[in-house]
Amino acid sequence: MLRIEGLSCGYGAATVLHELSMQVERGEVVALIGPNGAGKTTTLQCIAGHVPAKRGKTTFADEDLTARAPQERVRMGIAISPEGRKLFGDMTVRENLIVGGYSRPSGATAANLRRVLDLFPRLEERFGSLGRTLSGGEQQMVAIGRALMAEPRLLLIDELSLGLMPKNVDICYQALRKLRGAGIAILLVEQNLTKALEFSDRVYVMDTGRLVWSGTSGEARSRHDLADLILGHASEITA
Ligand SMILES: Nc1ncnc2c1ncn2[C@@H]1O[C@H](COP(=O)(O)OP(=O)(O)O)[C@@H](O)[C@H]1O
Ligand SMILES: [Mg+2]
Repeated sequence: MLRIEGLSCGYGAATVLHELSMQVERGEVVALIGPNGAGKTTTLQCIAGHVPAKRGKTTFADEDLTARAPQERVRMGIAISPEGRKLFGDMTVRENLIVGGYSRPSGATAANLRRVLDLFPRLEERFGSLGRTLSGGEQQMVAIGRALMAEPRLLLIDELSLGLMPKNVDICYQALRKLRGAGIAILLVEQNLTKALEFSDRVYVMDTGRLVWSGTSGEARSRHDLADLILGHASEITA
């Protein structure tokens, strides 16, 4: 469904991603892992259209994304839960969620809100609370919920569990399991390697803006050198 070929992108004159190629198939869960500064966030932001491509081709459901603005990509079915969650602190949970549905007809809002609240019952209790009063876990639920308001076919999630209490990490993964069951593809950036490899079908490993390994999550679980690379205990993988 998502096909990236030879993608290079960066900020201003600096190129951060070099010749990246990856795919996500319909309904697939793919983990994107790598040490700090590898380019994971840049990759997701480039897919979402917030960082422009310098070279290469990206298609989604066989449509070329190159000239598509971020809001068009949302309409096509790509939604992102960004690193740091990026909620509006002075808006309520309800308002933050509604922002995510701007690409859908207003008649769809009520049903989409209901779906998000069924997925994250905690948000119903916090529905009128301001974004800045939420715990990290609640913020992550809102960020995922906001993305779901766009009815995506591909959900990009940047750092799902970073800074969350274990209980909230579990709640978020339970929700992702339901989304996967509903056929939504997920491209997941996750620093918790165990969680990432448990939950995903396939894995891409990045380092300094390049893909250095890809394979099934089962294969990745038996590769201790991947963990060493991601934890910064090794500067490259061995084979
Ligand atoms: N807004 C930006 N402007 C300039 N350089 C950036 C910006 N954001 C990230 N970078 C650089 O791009 C590289 C990749 O960063 P990033 O995609 O955030 O990595 P990751 O998410 O894997 O930690 C890093 O060297 C980082 O310093
Ligand atoms: Mg990042």
